[in-house]
Amino acid sequence: RTIYLKDYTPFPWVIDGVDLTFALAPRGTRVTSRIRFRPDPDAPPGPFFLHGEDLRLIEARIDGQPVTPTVTPEGLTCDVPTGPFTWEAVVENDPELNTRLEGLYLSKGMYCTQCEAEGFRRITYYPDRPDVMAVFTVRIESDLPVLLSNGNPEESGPGFATWHDPWPKPAYLFALVAGDLVALHDSFTTRSGRHVDLGLWVRPGDEGKCAWGMESLKASMRWDEEAYGREYDLDVFNIVAVDDFNMGAMENKGLNIFNSSAILASPDTATDADYERVERIVAHEYFHNWTGNRITCRDWFQLSLKEGLTVFRDQQFTGDMRGHGVKRIGDAVLLRGRQFREDNGPLAHPVRPESFVEINNFYTVTIYEKGAEVIGMLKRLVGDDGYRRALDLYFDRHDGQAATVEDWLKVFEDATGRDLAQFKLWYSQAGTPRVKVEESWEDGRYRLDMTQTIPPTPGQPDKQPMVIPVALGLLNPNGDEVLPTTVLELTGGQQSFTFDNLSARPVPSILRGFSAPVILERDAPEGEAAFLLAHDTDQFNRWEAAQTLARRAIRARLDGQAIDASWVPSLAAALRDDALAPADRAALLGLPSEEETAQALWDDKRIPDPTAIHHAHEAVRDHLAQGLRDLLPQLHDGGRMPGPYSPDAKSVGRRSLGNAALRLLSRTDDGVRAAAQFAEAADMTQSVAALGALLAVGRGEEQLRAFHDRWAQDRLVLDKWFSLQVGLARPEAAVALAQRLTQHPDFDWKNPNRFRAVLGALASNPAGFHDASGAGYRLLADWLIRLDGANPLSAARMSTAFDSWRRLDVDRQALIQSELGRIQAAPGLSRDLSEMVGRMIG
Ligand code: ARG
Ligand code: ZN
Repeated sequence: RTIYLKDYTPFPWVIDGVDLTFALAPRGTRVTSRIRFRPDPDAPPGPFFLHGEDLRLIEARIDGQPVTPTVTPEGLTCDVPTGPFTWEAVVENDPELNTRLEGLYLSKGMYCTQCEAEGFRRITYYPDRPDVMAVFTVRIESDLPVLLSNGNPEESGPGFATWHDPWPKPAYLFALVAGDLVALHDSFTTRSGRHVDLGLWVRPGDEGKCAWGMESLKASMRWDEEAYGREYDLDVFNIVAVDDFNMGAMENKGLNIFNSSAILASPDTATDADYERVERIVAHEYFHNWTGNRITCRDWFQLSLKEGLTVFRDQQFTGDMRGHGVKRIGDAVLLRGRQFREDNGPLAHPVRPESFVEINNFYTVTIYEKGAEVIGMLKRLVGDDGYRRALDLYFDRHDGQAATVEDWLKVFEDATGRDLAQFKLWYSQAGTPRVKVEESWEDGRYRLDMTQTIPPTPGQPDKQPMVIPVALGLLNPNGDEVLPTTVLELTGGQQSFTFDNLSARPVPSILRGFSAPVILERDAPEGEAAFLLAHDTDQFNRWEAAQTLARRAIRARLDGQAIDASWVPSLAAALRDDALAPADRAALLGLPSEEETAQALWDDKRIPDPTAIHHAHEAVRDHLAQGLRDLLPQLHDGGRMPGPYSPDAKSVGRRSLGNAALRLLSRTDDGVRAAAQFAEAADMTQSVAALGALLAVGRGEEQLRAFHDRWAQDRLVLDKWFSLQVGLARPEAAVALAQRLTQHPDFDWKNPNRFRAVLGALASNPAGFHDASGAGYRLLADWLIRLDGANPLSAARMSTAFDSWRRLDVDRQALIQSELGRIQAAPGLSRDLSEMVGRMIG
């Protein structure tokens, strides 16, 4: 059944309070609910329907009198009084049998919950929709030592604890945790003087991996006060680490629940990238307290209202912590690799979708990352002051409400006087805009002619022009900037911009800072990219120039042509430039991904061959390694740092340059340096970098074995052991390896992290996954069918590996189609996976 945005109707009742009692038991947890309903004077009357799935209803009462509701697999209806009434129900559910990891489930002996989007209905009968907000009081009964829920703790004693959350919230923010847990405690005082007890709860044995998560939490709390004027609003803030979790983390009010991979970190078990990820996700979930919890979404079509905004906020935070230049580059890489792919394939959907079958399928890179891009564009268009005023108004006007994208845009209109009618198309039109730029120069006048087109996407054959902020700078031929960054607003299908009084034809630096999530189409004159790499003042476009050069080298290799001889020297010059921070130089060494190359070929109406693309990328890496041979050793040496590990931005930058150099070096030194680094490594960053460098050149067997033996007891490190080897396997060996690893005693397919470490890693190895035999497709389809029976949400997510099938050659298309058909025909297929497969087949 498809749900449509246009069908929204409010719930006919208001809830004056919810009391829940949980008597925890693995098979048959008893949930007693007491909910006070009152007709909503502002809503049209309607039937009394409560969501509920996979529950055993033991009894129900209204105002104390037993009632017999009509129960269906989706919920129940019941005759109710016309005035206010109290609903009471006793239900049972089975946490131990819950392999979906939605609702209440058990993970290694610990009870925990995941309710977003629609998991609360697996806990008890309730109007499980985000616009129904209520104050919850929760009593937990269990012999387990630690019993947690949302809000502030009230009473507790042997075998029970009660919690009260004074802030009205939708059911998707409900959380409960019970287990034998230990905590790292700390505290934070808000700027208005509220004392907050902080706790980071883990299973015994993980105590040593909590410090960084706690540091990140305090930094986030401080940052949100300074950057957005947002203070925390409860006496406690708890975070819990859970091993079995479908996504990164969840922002439940006062009780965030994290995938342990997104919160635990120690120098010997986590890499720089893991540290950064923990910092970012802790910030993201914390920031949701205002953008998501205090102001939530009216319905799930508005999901990007909280997710796009919260991603944008965590991007700003990470930029402040670690440098905005590298952060922007990383975000652009993610957007191009994953969001552009989604936006240009069968799963394309707008930032605010208009219909869905299963909402879990819409927690996508488009909702999150493109949603954040849309906010970044808005900020650029109204300026920093306008953005600040609009956000203040948003918090002021909508605190305590379930809001919409219209509400969001209205605060910008009211605060800045700007008409956003056309801008709103970014929320309704799917597809990545192409911006074609042509230039002319005559009598001291420079002109840029821009054309925008937005390709058709499923259900949207025709598009209207959007508002595209194009940040532009102009440089003199001698390298001086003659026009500092200026934002051009492209609003028409075709539009010209002219610049007068220039003494010489300028070199344009277009789309600085990646000012819009678009694809720039332009035939740049020979030599321009090398010039910009040397002279551009915009860090992003300097990197972009290096990417352009690398893309050309890859294309030359693919077409059997010689690589431009000026590429390596111009890159080497930038790498030698000590004025550039190591992190920025490391970024310059990064080649576009094979996925990006495939997209670019497809855009040029060519059929990308994943195998050929892989070999071209490899050849270009060899070429680079040869050309930079003299420089790489010193770059690598610069990444070695004495003293204890520190995840600060500067150290991370040095290590990332060193390890990028090592990766290339290993192509020319028989892996000698990498082997030495592996042997000496004192932290996980250096160890994984060395192992990766070896595996990438077909070495490292022995190190891989040593790594397994050393870390056999650490599940998060073991995930790396699985994913590294599959992700870096040679194309012809990847599928067999992945297949073999699914038989490994440490492979636990019901754990989402471990499943992803093998099958997600295979999908991220394009030449391996797309092996012409179709064996990769078959292996993934087999496992998706199996996983779907236990955990549909994760199976559906992973199925996106097939979403690029239409751009492949006919043989591969046929192979994928037959696997998709096989999945579709699997008995008992979930709504989640069947929606995804249906959309991909089209
Ligand atoms: N709101 C969570 C976050 O962005 C993610 C929840 C994902 N839920 C889901 N059903 N996929 O941090
Ligand atoms: Zn989020």
